[in-house]
Amino acid sequence: MCGIVGYTGKQSAITPLIEGLRRLEYRGYDSAGIALGTPNKLFIEKRAGKLANLEAELGVKIPTAQSGIGHTRWATHGGPTDRNAHPHVDNEGKLAVIHNGIIENYTQLRTELESRGHKFESETDTESVAHLLSDLRKSHKGDLSAAMREAAKYLRGSFTLLAIHSDAPTIIVGVRRNSPLVVGLGDGENFMASDVAAFIDYTKRAVELGQDHVVTMTPSAISITDLEGNAVVPKEYEITWDASAAQKGGFSHFMLKEIFEQPKAVADTLVGRLDENNHIVLDELHLSKQEIQNLKKIVVLACGTAYHAGMLAKYAIEKWAKITVEVELASEFRYRDPLIDSQTLVIAISQSGETMDTLMALRHAKSAGARILAVCNTNSSTIPRESDAVLYTHAGPEIAVASTKAFLTQVIAVYLIGLHLAQERVVLTGVQVKEIFNELLELPSKIEQILETVEPLRELTRGFAQSTSVLFLGRNVGFPVALEGALKLKELAYMHAEGFAGGELKHGPIALIEEGTPVIAILPASHEHGLDEKMLSNIQEVKARGALVIVIAQESAVVTGATHIIRIPDAPSLLQPVLATVPLQVFAYEMAVARGNDVDQPRNLAKSVTVE
Ligand code: AGP
Repeated sequence: MCGIVGYTGKQSAITPLIEGLRRLEYRGYDSAGIALGTPNKLFIEKRAGKLANLEAELGVKIPTAQSGIGHTRWATHGGPTDRNAHPHVDNEGKLAVIHNGIIENYTQLRTELESRGHKFESETDTESVAHLLSDLRKSHKGDLSAAMREAAKYLRGSFTLLAIHSDAPTIIVGVRRNSPLVVGLGDGENFMASDVAAFIDYTKRAVELGQDHVVTMTPSAISITDLEGNAVVPKEYEITWDASAAQKGGFSHFMLKEIFEQPKAVADTLVGRLDENNHIVLDELHLSKQEIQNLKKIVVLACGTAYHAGMLAKYAIEKWAKITVEVELASEFRYRDPLIDSQTLVIAISQSGETMDTLMALRHAKSAGARILAVCNTNSSTIPRESDAVLYTHAGPEIAVASTKAFLTQVIAVYLIGLHLAQERVVLTGVQVKEIFNELLELPSKIEQILETVEPLRELTRGFAQSTSVLFLGRNVGFPVALEGALKLKELAYMHAEGFAGGELKHGPIALIEEGTPVIAILPASHEHGLDEKMLSNIQEVKARGALVIVIAQESAVVTGATHIIRIPDAPSLLQPVLATVPLQVFAYEMAVARGNDVDQPRNLAKSVTVE
């Protein structure tokens, strides 16, 4: 997720651009850059790091220009360096592009453009678009809008693109597909941005763009077409948010916004991961088929929520790839003299990539000869840098301390690793992998369905706001979900919460149940081993002792004994955690709000724990 902004109008462009980027830094802060619409050759400045680095570099050397584009980056392809920072330009330095999203077919595009003599500077997917647009603009006799329409037909994936050319510097052209772009209408000036936060101080008049719409913006007008050039009537609306609400997308907290971003985060993490031969595409693993077949075991290292994703990795990888998986709390791992060697693959899962417990455990494993694969959401952070390979999740910046979208994308990432290992170890066929992958592709819309029906759950949660303790029960893959639900509630509502394996209840924890104790039970999707019946028995056991039982159950499940039922869409048993977790996130969020807690920055916690 990156922040993009464009301006053309009556004032010096640098101010609305920099102010706009400042408002969009929450969308990504790995690098920042601008292109100003100066005649003959664009003025380009870009720097790795936060916006302040760019401002320091700009200093006073800013030429007068009344148009320009700006970008603040959340790195996906290519680390957060000056060269990978946006904008990206053509070889003449006359055309600049900024981008939010993932161009899925950029490698073949780059090969084609290099064969046509284009010289590339960066490792990004975006730079391919700058060179493509440069060629297409020439073939369209300088018409940047026509070039953008044709370019969008070549591109696959998700993208919002803004482009500017020094031959007509007051014109900015944009296009969007599966990535946001909104136009701000001013008086003698116009704006484009990822969201209204960028220009809300200048105008409250906005136009939302639809899929594959191309917008041409000048200081006095905007025009919108589809990719065929057919005119689209702009639908103007009044922005009612203030700047802070705009940064949260109108949600009251970043956490709620990030819960609702999960469908897109999961979809983005799956983009381009299955090729036309039904092979999982994980080139970043850098493990040969032989190395994978020689692996003796896998060890997952992680903390907190990431550890729960690691527990799910065990179920998926052992089932699909038939290789032993050990899941270790990173903070405990190295103190027990673990058995690690060169035939061990360590998977270090970390949203921030800076968790010291996980980093120290990784270093210990590396010194013992293990290969290290990081699963991380933060490009070029310490853990990926010290690993042999990294699989980046595409959740975008996770601002709230409580991890939500990062967790779901970590689970998706370990599923992809499991499928890849299963294929390389010739355990699953391409057809079997495609079948499972298609089920993964259905998850974003199923998460959407859950989110569309959360209001009753939010209402129900408020009724439990005065509870002193909540228990969570799960079986099989539902057990890590129970642990994750309990952790969310602890860190947000500051209340006692505990997750149990359903079968463990009778071995002690059932003594905790008394009249009115809230219990949340995740009903297994599978009839296999009678898991669902066993959980229904657990529900009866706690109900008989006075518990109030909220059951998370699939639409097709027969549920008995519940006080309340929260339905989730059907999914294969192994994939159910991606869906069952969402109501638990909402439950914890709502409980925190009801108790008046600081949802995005809960007490005593930090987003990244960089001490042991
Ligand atoms: C999750 O909601 C917590 N914020 C915490 O448990 C977190 O998952 C843990 O500290 C690990 O962080 P990491 O993924 O950045 O390594």
